[in-house]
Amino acid sequence: MANETAQIAGPVILLGPPGAGKGTQAKKLVERYRIPQISTGDLLRDHVARGTSLGVEAKVVMARGQLVPDALMYGIVADRLREPDCERGFILDGFPRTAAQAGWLDAFLEKEFFEKSGMCPPVVIQLVVDYTQLLLRLTGRRSCPTCGRLYNIHFQPPRVDELCDVDSTPLVIRDDDGAEIISGRLKAYEDQTKPVVEYFDAQHRLVAVNADQTVDEVTAQIFGVIDRHCQHLRPPAK
Ligand code: AP5
Ligand code: MG
Repeated sequence: MANETAQIAGPVILLGPPGAGKGTQAKKLVERYRIPQISTGDLLRDHVARGTSLGVEAKVVMARGQLVPDALMYGIVADRLREPDCERGFILDGFPRTAAQAGWLDAFLEKEFFEKSGMCPPVVIQLVVDYTQLLLRLTGRRSCPTCGRLYNIHFQPPRVDELCDVDSTPLVIRDDDGAEIISGRLKAYEDQTKPVVEYFDAQHRLVAVNADQTVDEVTAQIFGVIDRHCQHLRPPAK
């Protein structure tokens, strides 16, 4: 099946505001390219749930809808990228999120991946979504605490109200999906993450995708972008 092929992918960076569909699309890429999704939001929420010192610090910042300081992010991202499942590639969902993080990532990949394994440079995909649509996606989001499946009461409702289709677990609302926090997160994106878009665009490394379409339509566009990016890496046809 086309969505189950284990192709060469290399690193993929998904950029986009809160609610753009980074997590939704990352899961589709995991299925097709068999490379892991690295969501810095999920990594941080895991630290918060475990009550680590990083989690205690991050919790306060995330509850305000602000970004966790860069210096705290580098260690968790570096540790995760050094795990063996990242050797063929990985999907960065939510990182980099500041211009400083983008510069740090380029230097890290250069040193740890390109020099050692000759991995191809990241494909940087920007998910572009209208503001009103973002609000509906965020306020309507529900997720399954057991399997992680995402739903949306407006666009992808579960078959039975508020229960996961896969395991019937009651769905939950993310702590930072309240109206006041959402506005802080969207502002943080405008102020701190838009410069990341500009950073990659100035280097002609950015591919914008219209993500204001159905999930499957967006996925098809992203597959096309990645496949074109990686074409030169495939072994020649016999
Ligand atoms: P993070 O968890 O990364 O949240 P975010 O960037 O705000 O993005 P979301 O997860 O809300 O949205 P998404 O784009 O993944 O959309 P989704 O697929 O869920 O970060 C959380 C916090 O952690 C940050 O605020 C910050 O404090 C901290 N943090 C994380 N990374 C950091 C970093 N690098 N530096 C510093 N701090 C960091 O979709 C949303 C909804 O829309 C779902 O209901 C889904 O079903 C629906 N949907 C998706 N696609 C479609 C579609 N095409 N049509 C209709 N509905 C759709
Ligand atoms: Mg997400």
